[in-house]
Amino acid sequence: MKHEIVITAQGHKGTLERLQTEFNAVKLWEATDRDGALKSASGRRALAHFGHARVDGKLMDALPKLEIIANFGVGVDQIDLDAAKKRNIIVTNTPDVLNDCVADCALALVLNTLRKFPQSQDYLRSGFWATRGPYPLTTSMGGKTMGILGLGRIGEAIARRALGFGMKIRYHNRNRKDVPYAYDADLVTLAKNSDVLVIVTPGGAETAKLVNAKVLDALGPEGYLVNVARGSVVDELVLLRYLQEKKIAGAGLDVFEHEPNVPAEFFALDNAVLYPHVASATAETRKAMGDLQVENLHLHFAGKPVKTPV
Ligand code: NAP
Ligand code: 8YV
Repeated sequence: MKHEIVITAQGHKGTLERLQTEFNAVKLWEATDRDGALKSASGRRALAHFGHARVDGKLMDALPKLEIIANFGVGVDQIDLDAAKKRNIIVTNTPDVLNDCVADCALALVLNTLRKFPQSQDYLRSGFWATRGPYPLTTSMGGKTMGILGLGRIGEAIARRALGFGMKIRYHNRNRKDVPYAYDADLVTLAKNSDVLVIVTPGGAETAKLVNAKVLDALGPEGYLVNVARGSVVDELVLLRYLQEKKIAGAGLDVFEHEPNVPAEFFALDNAVLYPHVASATAETRKAMGDLQVENLHLHFAGKPVKTPV
């Protein structure tokens, strides 16, 4: 007999196929009558979640037998963890398996933002190399200081890579770690000490708009910002203004406040490199994330401890 689950949203194809083969699954996003679908699924014990829609107490109450929410992704800022705890619902995520890909993306953003490779390609494709001459000089990575806001699993993978590029590393977390990098006890000091500030904290209420005008002022007109965490960690409209007014040198962004909607003003900026939330988006990593999500569900139904509880 297959165990019964609810899937919230359209997600990674291979994982959806596994979920539908290995479980008896209700696909919530396909229901024309969502409330009706939830009512008929009200005995189900497990929810597989994809994407960034909220999983709140109301949804949990609509599934009163719910025991586990298995998220596809390490970030769980879209899940009301307090509401889950109150209802004794286990939440799982997919840490570690994506560290390398997300760190690769962070380094690509640093490289592209300082060296302006995408902009230089546009210059060539527009025919300007022949008509206007060489592309203007850019900024080197080697010797620069990278400040990491959120030196966790992914942050440490970013630091290792940046060392290979000849960068120096500093960081700010709420708690100092036993690592060979300089620690700044507050974020403004980290920004002041950094040429490139890389954000890789969790999202959610605790980190909302942590990177604000004060932090960007400390980063200064020669400083660069890279965000692979969540759009919510940055005051996006302030960042836009600082880029327009060249109050910081540039930004590389994989994440935005209201994805997939990005304020159109960003598209006009020559000092911003923008990716559509692709940091973990390789076939290998997305499969590994899905495998972990599915494994957690199987473990739970087998009465065993899940592998990656939040
Ligand atoms: P992690 O291992 O938990 O690391 C997070 C780090 O942030 C910790 O070192 C933590 O240290 C620090 N932190 C938390 N709250 C903070 C605060 N208020 N101020 C300063 N530092 C704070 O998490 P991870 O696995 O590296 O993932 C980090 C985040 O990256 C995820 O939550 C997710 O949102 C994002 N992400 C994005 C993508 C993408 O596709 N762009 C992919 C994967 C992950 P302290 O507890 O000591 O403060
Ligand atoms: C995914 C992510 O893009 O793991 C995370 O926190 O942001 C990414 O790996 C996302 O979870 C897919 O919906």
